[in-house]
Amino acid sequence: AVSRTHSVALIPADGIGPEVISAGVQVLETLTKCDGSFSLSFKHYDWSSGTYKATGKYIPDGGLEQLKKHDAILFGAVGAPDVPDHISLWGLRLAICQGFQQYANVRPTKIFRGTESPLRKAEHGDLDWVIVRENSEGEYAGQGGRSHRGHPWETATEVAIFSRHGIDRIMRFAFETAQKRPRKLLTVVTKSNAQRNGMVLWDEVAQEVAKEYPDVKWDKMLVDAMTCRMVLDPKSIDTIVASNLHADILSDLAAALAGSIGIAPTSNLDPSRQYPSMFEPIHGSAFDITGQGVANPVGTFWTASEMLIWLGEEEAAKIMMDAVETVTGRGLMTRDLGGKARTQDVTEAVCEELVEIY
Ligand code: NAI
Ligand code: MG
Repeated sequence: AVSRTHSVALIPADGIGPEVISAGVQVLETLTKCDGSFSLSFKHYDWSSGTYKATGKYIPDGGLEQLKKHDAILFGAVGAPDVPDHISLWGLRLAICQGFQQYANVRPTKIFRGTESPLRKAEHGDLDWVIVRENSEGEYAGQGGRSHRGHPWETATEVAIFSRHGIDRIMRFAFETAQKRPRKLLTVVTKSNAQRNGMVLWDEVAQEVAKEYPDVKWDKMLVDAMTCRMVLDPKSIDTIVASNLHADILSDLAAALAGSIGIAPTSNLDPSRQYPSMFEPIHGSAFDITGQGVANPVGTFWTASEMLIWLGEEEAAKIMMDAVETVTGRGLMTRDLGGKARTQDVTEAVCEELVEIY
């Protein structure tokens, strides 16, 4: 008898989003069927650039209220060639992140068995990092404006905001994340030489919070120097915490160094658990390969596994990742990883592997 049920909202949205989310659901359904100790109920929301073009809204009135009832949200990607990216991003993804105080964005990386890093010396098991991205402030808080539109003297500002409260809560989350990992190692990334207000506050708060985690070894790094360190000395890194903008960029670099943007997951967490958290592959809607059936579903599988951990299903989450790595280890991979397999080939292979494991 099934003892636990988790309710999951699905928002596949645009481009390859629906392709990878349907692959993810197929694997999750196989997993719960094999496992038998818990179940997932899915509710599909068709919010996308298509609904935006038809109705003028990404999220219908009362939409966030509906979402609140779920335990987690599994999200595909948003963005369409004929909608400006800032409209789609703010209309759907950021509306959920900010509405639900998902202030911690967590992005793990690693090199999967069978895959190759563009770094000559990195191999399977390396680049095992977690990037903790502040997800509510910085340049992405929406402060700023445009004046004198259309004139040669037009002016625009993007005001980065950093609050002690916002930095303190992400810093605690990052130290706790580092503390739970074997190496207990945290790098605090800022740009406090040039950005002399907000980033200096980051440094100060880091210093204070660090005192409460004496077992975590930590260091500080400027973001430009951090890009070099990620490439030249990747083994010296474990957990990273950085502002919204800096971590956005560093995490794409991390995903590329690990082999492909197609394998990396993101969790948008409300650590207070007042609201549901949202889980998504790190990649976007990838118009160039939409509809071809070649999107890498591994980023969504890893995303789904992170979601299961958040829902308390650690054991099943681990089994799912084992199945995925067995499949990549066999060389069954999509084009972005140098293979020839299609989305559906990888998905079915993972399902078969799950049946095998259980
Ligand atoms: P992208 O991630 O969609 O694509 C970048 C490159 O990576 C493309 O060549 C694409 O084919 C490839 N790629 C991405 N995911 C892949 C996968 N699963 N398997 C194989 N190849 C994959 O980023 P891009 O092109 O900058 O953005 C396209 C659209 O997606 C834009 O509208 C952008 O705003 C949106 N976007 C949305 C995000 C989200 O919903 N969280 C995140 C990033 C971009
Ligand atoms: Mg990004």
